[in-house]
Amino acid sequence: MSQFWKPGTEKPRILDDEEGGVLFLSSSFSSSASGYGFANIEKQRQRLPVYKYRTAILYLVETHATTIIVGETGSGKTTQIPQYLKEAGWADGGRVIACTQPRRLAVQAVASRVAEEMSVKLGEEVGYTIRFEDITDADATRIKFLTDGVLLREMMDDPLLTKYSVIMVDEAHERSISTDILLGLLKKIQRRRPELRLIISSATIEARSMSDFFRSSKKHQGLESEDLGPSMEPAILSVEGRGFNVQIHYVEEPVQDYVQASVSTVLLINDQEPAGDILVFLTGQDDIDAVVKMLTEETQNSRKNSSGLIVLPLYSGLSRSEQDLIFSPTPRGKRKVVISTNIAETSLTLEGIVYVVDSGFSKQRFYNPISDIENLVVAPISKASARQRAGRAGRIRPGKCYRLYTEEYFMNEMSAEGIPEIQRSNLVDCVIQLKALGIDNILGFDWPASPSPEAMIRALEVLYSLGVLDNDAKLTSPVGFQVAEIPLEPMISKMILASSELGCSEEAITIAAVLSIQSIWFSGRGVQKQLDEAKLRFAAAEGDHVTFLNIYKGFLHSGKSSQWCHKNFINYHAMKKVMEIREQLRRITLRLGIVLKSSEGDMQVVRKAVTAGFFANACRLEPFSHNGMYKTIRGSQEVYIHPSSVLFRVNPKWVVYHSVVSTDRQYMRNVITIDPSWLTEAAPHFYQQQRQNPM
Ligand code: CDP
Ligand code: MG
Repeated sequence: MSQFWKPGTEKPRILDDEEGGVLFLSSSFSSSASGYGFANIEKQRQRLPVYKYRTAILYLVETHATTIIVGETGSGKTTQIPQYLKEAGWADGGRVIACTQPRRLAVQAVASRVAEEMSVKLGEEVGYTIRFEDITDADATRIKFLTDGVLLREMMDDPLLTKYSVIMVDEAHERSISTDILLGLLKKIQRRRPELRLIISSATIEARSMSDFFRSSKKHQGLESEDLGPSMEPAILSVEGRGFNVQIHYVEEPVQDYVQASVSTVLLINDQEPAGDILVFLTGQDDIDAVVKMLTEETQNSRKNSSGLIVLPLYSGLSRSEQDLIFSPTPRGKRKVVISTNIAETSLTLEGIVYVVDSGFSKQRFYNPISDIENLVVAPISKASARQRAGRAGRIRPGKCYRLYTEEYFMNEMSAEGIPEIQRSNLVDCVIQLKALGIDNILGFDWPASPSPEAMIRALEVLYSLGVLDNDAKLTSPVGFQVAEIPLEPMISKMILASSELGCSEEAITIAAVLSIQSIWFSGRGVQKQLDEAKLRFAAAEGDHVTFLNIYKGFLHSGKSSQWCHKNFINYHAMKKVMEIREQLRRITLRLGIVLKSSEGDMQVVRKAVTAGFFANACRLEPFSHNGMYKTIRGSQEVYIHPSSVLFRVNPKWVVYHSVVSTDRQYMRNVITIDPSWLTEAAPHFYQQQRQNPM
């Protein structure tokens, strides 16, 4: 097994490790700050690399409209800078400092950390907002963490974001679709609000292009404001990192199965390497759960040393207590193994990591405007990501990174940088948000990276067919404005609006709530048989959406019992979340004047409502298909029903789906049967053009 690995020829990073001993000591304190009292928290804060730049940062923010801050993950950007700003008075007079993150879990984690450092209760002076969860106090909150998507939504009520004095757009290197839209809009806002300060922070160097992007607003500024406000020239500050050397190891031969290879690598490290926690990068809940299960079995069978392993998953949707385990210090004599999505690449810092295992993959969105399918695909990461991942091993002392790909592959095949999400996404959501903010010329919008015109045209077309945009590509009233107001994918929002007319809005908001979370089923390999049996108990011939209604009914009937969930292989936390989201949707729909009404068991109207939202995702079973192949009506793409669907192997003739994931094939998730005549009824314009596919 040890022959399997070959050291890399890439020079290990030589970085300043002069304070190695001190750092090592400090880091063993830092994960549980509350136990060590105020003095220690202060000391820890001062040891972070960003502390040396405190004065410089405050000076630059004072004197520049935009400050770009680049610094290695863990240097203290996210947790410290908002506190510095507050200490310097940027939150005085009722103003608020905002810090955005692309990921919900990161928002929660950093907000609780900062509240802890400031010894305040989360939700008061320090708070956070993610979709469907607002832990802030309108009067008391001075530092607010939020997803970039939530900040975009806030603009609908307050287009100039007047309550914020400083907005820190964090993790800008991730180039999430919402970050890019936000950057474009903030640049506009800045022209109207010269007193607003922006901080763009990121872990990797894209500082130049970011700076060029913000600099180009100078000409719009005109001459009159010169010498008055802050400089419009963006400032760039690079926080020197303090990472240690990381030795890179590559596999000799390409691995066939990265799940299996991750498990053996973790066991190998555990057998052969001294103490230190392990971080494994995989792609999503499925492969993470598989590895957690395999490693946990290994520890239970206690092969040699593996009984000392504490194996923990890390992906979005974990409960608060599960998150806490990840951040709590590893007990002496134990070794923590965290199996994570790329959330641990730069968004979160885990203390104590010395070994990184990098699968070389992550889950990424890809949209093809020709086939009009947006896919979630397991795809190779970029070199920039691979370096970030490796860097996680060098936080407390020199570490090792095991790449589950060959050096040749890294050198010659991996792309240098990832592609911004906006260039590989379906733009329906993005277009409607911009329209709602009064941006009419979307192609002419000032994008940090332009989306493809084909994708834009597709989005406009779908929105027109949904009745959201009119002939002039303006939001229709009231449908367009209502769809924009509901914080869900436009297709789901449209389903809710249609359900109001069809008399099944109670059912529609339940379905919408379930579609908003990842899965309501208990996950984990090895329980597949029981899970399938449980599904059968609720399965509806109409499909997954109606099955969700059955589960919801059963859950209510059980008195929202956790035992009931357990018995039926349903995730209790997910169901509680569904109840919460549903309650919020109920309030939003009431505000929009939608009267909630149940169809009292008439599932035909429910299916019609789903079709009214999702007509663009209609598929037909291939007439002579023996393997359940469907083709999309829209682009004649081959798709199959996902094995997790209750319609898997049932293969009804006509269906609409909610989303597509790709593994060996393109699979439709959450599928419901329809009558094809409903398609032309729901979207005559959309389907008239389908000459090559007459119905
Ligand atoms: O944003 P950046 O990656 O530069 O660093 P940060 O998230 O502000 O983290 C700074 C330090 O705070 C980390 O190195 C950790 O020591 C500590 N931290 C922690 O212990 N627990 C958290 N939940 C967040 C941060
Ligand atoms: Mg950060």
